[in-house]
Amino acid sequence: MRIRDMRVNHLCEPLGYQLSPLSFSWKCTEIEGAKKQEWARIRIYHGEKLIYDSGEDSAADSLDTSVDLALEPRTRYRWTVEVLADNGECACGESFFETGKMQENWNGRWISPKASKETPGILRKVFSAEAAEQARLYICGLGVYEVYLNGEKVGQEYLAPGYHSYDFHAQVSTYAVDGLLKDGENELQIWLGDGWFRGRLGFDGGYTDLYGDRTYAIAELYAGNTCILATDETWQCGKSPVIFSNIYDGEVFDARMLKGIAMSDAAENSSDADASEKQNDVWESAEAAIPDRLGECRENLNNLTAEARSYAALCDRMNLPIVKKESFPIQEVLHTPKKETVLDFGQELTGWVEFECSLPAGMQIRLTGSEIMQNDCFYNENYRTAKTEFTYISDGEKRHVRPHFTFYCFRYIKAELLDAEGNEVPFTDIDAFGFIAWHLRSDFDAIGSIETGNAKVDRLFANAMWGQKDNFLDVPTDCPQRDERLGWTGDAQVFSETACYNMFMPAFYRKYLWDMRAEQSILGGSVPNVVPRLKQGMVAEHGSCPWGDAGVVIPWNVYLHYGSRTLLAECYEGMKGWVDNQRRRDESVEGPHLIKDGFHFADWLALDNPMPGPFGATDPLYIASAYYYRCTSAVADAAAILGYEADAAEYRKLAGEIKLAIQDTYFDENGLCKCETQTGSSIAIMYGLNKDEAARKAEGEKLSERVTANNNHLNTGFVGTTILCPALTETGSGSQAVDLLLNEDYPGWLYSVNLGATTIWERWNSVESDGTINAEGMNSLNHYSYGSIEAWMYGYTAGIRPLEPGFRKARIEPHADERLGHVNCSLQTAAGLYRSSWKYEDGRCSYEIEVPFNAEAELVLDGKSMTLTAGVYRF
Ligand code: BGC
Repeated sequence: MRIRDMRVNHLCEPLGYQLSPLSFSWKCTEIEGAKKQEWARIRIYHGEKLIYDSGEDSAADSLDTSVDLALEPRTRYRWTVEVLADNGECACGESFFETGKMQENWNGRWISPKASKETPGILRKVFSAEAAEQARLYICGLGVYEVYLNGEKVGQEYLAPGYHSYDFHAQVSTYAVDGLLKDGENELQIWLGDGWFRGRLGFDGGYTDLYGDRTYAIAELYAGNTCILATDETWQCGKSPVIFSNIYDGEVFDARMLKGIAMSDAAENSSDADASEKQNDVWESAEAAIPDRLGECRENLNNLTAEARSYAALCDRMNLPIVKKESFPIQEVLHTPKKETVLDFGQELTGWVEFECSLPAGMQIRLTGSEIMQNDCFYNENYRTAKTEFTYISDGEKRHVRPHFTFYCFRYIKAELLDAEGNEVPFTDIDAFGFIAWHLRSDFDAIGSIETGNAKVDRLFANAMWGQKDNFLDVPTDCPQRDERLGWTGDAQVFSETACYNMFMPAFYRKYLWDMRAEQSILGGSVPNVVPRLKQGMVAEHGSCPWGDAGVVIPWNVYLHYGSRTLLAECYEGMKGWVDNQRRRDESVEGPHLIKDGFHFADWLALDNPMPGPFGATDPLYIASAYYYRCTSAVADAAAILGYEADAAEYRKLAGEIKLAIQDTYFDENGLCKCETQTGSSIAIMYGLNKDEAARKAEGEKLSERVTANNNHLNTGFVGTTILCPALTETGSGSQAVDLLLNEDYPGWLYSVNLGATTIWERWNSVESDGTINAEGMNSLNHYSYGSIEAWMYGYTAGIRPLEPGFRKARIEPHADERLGHVNCSLQTAAGLYRSSWKYEDGRCSYEIEVPFNAEAELVLDGKSMTLTAGVYRF
């Protein structure tokens, strides 16, 4: 037996993260006959000193064992876990975690490049030091930053500190810079970009300077336990070669301005190493400046001065780093009728393109992204105002080039070569540039996979995976390409179950929900339509259902999938805050417990409404009330789990009243939903709103008839699509759900696959059957919501669903269908690896099931159920 995947707060070997409350998890593999854990023992060491010992604890939970321990700032702790299994085998694992500055005071002061109202700039300090074995950098740069110590890029991440609610908190990153300090003169540079903090953000032109109108940084460098450098007015500032950047429009990098800036990686060229001689004509004094809007919305910082607040708002990071995950070479170079040169990377991805450049000084290369070609020509009008352009101006040196403070989403890149006057010149040898596309996202990994006997279904599965990869760059965005890329809560909510199946998401969502709770704190518990919230009116609205319901649905899905009671407890106030807000809204209008008014996106983009527009036909107040019931029930369940008995009773009672009110208002005397849409019935079935099992079954029949009447096609939007196939399957029409999956014409999932999609589209007909893009203004080819079909594939086709949180206990109920030939599903859950496979051969179906150590599955095959413990089984 071996211990693997040792995590602290869902992170392996975290460095400088928010670790309070502290929670440990681990997995046992190579179990050879062992089934259950008898006990586990956690020990924590500070240096050699044992500071915590749980003893042999039979209640220790490998999904989440929280330890109440006061930690010290900037301190590394070693921890071990020892596990005894029921066959007498024992295994031990060792790992570590290290704290950041926590709430410690800062020696560093906020500084800013002088001209940073105009351009973001670079901050730097030349200092003398000694080589140090162990060194740490604690830093926050606003808007976004990259740091270089002696020309080496510090850390593997990009676009730090990411996108969060800066008016509540600002994340500090901790970097190990062991070995980068040298004896004598050293140089630290902080490159700054506008990012989300002050760059253009929001649609319809958007806003600039959302959280501040210049760029800033604060940093401290430690050698061992000694602070050897801190930001102050003795730092210098200089102009950056990044002469323009923002999230939507891209970046202009003028390599001629690298003169005097010794760098690596930013635009690699070793011959720059001695260039610091010329520094005097480049550098001037930096300014002390306070980012005076940091933390301005946080109630507990209200009575502080702006300066004090700007320090108090600093906190150890929550977010996963944004990293390069995979690379793609050019698949094909296209020469279009308009004489454009377009690089096709074969997959729509979020990230950027890197290349080698040795053009003469002044020559430029311009790269523009798009997701589809039209009439064999380059097209990106659906990006609306987002320019999505990277321009590099050569200084005549050979350099490796990449963007710094932007990202795009693209499959196609139009490449243009311009001479010093800006005239386009033809490429002579495109291969010489070695163009390579890098996919960037938050650093989480896949845990789920499904492979079937149908290549188109497999492509659909991959497309939905890409929907997640491309849209989870620090916040779950609606889309990664046009002038939006915002943390729309409705999109995030409907996809969250799928996201939790696909990838290991607890740390990612922990950060999103932290921002969400912050925003809720000044909205009376209401949840904004986008998190972080945009401030100035336009979409800074809140409380629309089921967008706001993200406040409960996401933390609850995260709990069901990963089983962390500690994280549930952290999220509880936000969950309750949303339901209390809904309750006040409900009670402000006379009548039973329902949502009776307000604007709700509801079944956004459904096709069932005879009225043109993005709104579905299902009554928005029915949907809002159903979610009100669902969320209130989840809060009651969460309260019971966390031992808040009074809350559990109160919300249980409220949920019962809401359910009765929904049944009275929206259901007929036979217990059937009066909203006669696919979505209406699916909600009734999946959220348990029918009065009894017979009514639920009858609702299922109605749903099935409705699908049949619609030419056996779906017509659902964001809400209905997530639950339509589960509702059909739950009520005995599983084979009709497979019909919907396999439909190749519009509207259906494989329609997009047949048209060459490599991601999930925003609309069922984002592209018409002749390949023309739907001209409606809101049309992205990378919106993950309809990718939520994957949750049905995991939970029903392969049939693996959590029966107890974190899959400590699973229900495995595969729904085999000969048309798919076979299904192989593996799911590396928090509790360990489950597999569910089936295959048809000569009309007979065989199954193979795997259950991990210390877990249990209730297997249901042909209506018969049996309990399986750890092991591999064939039927
Ligand atoms: C976004 C959506 C979002 C919607 C709400 C759109 O512009 O792209 O996915 O949820 O607005 O209205």
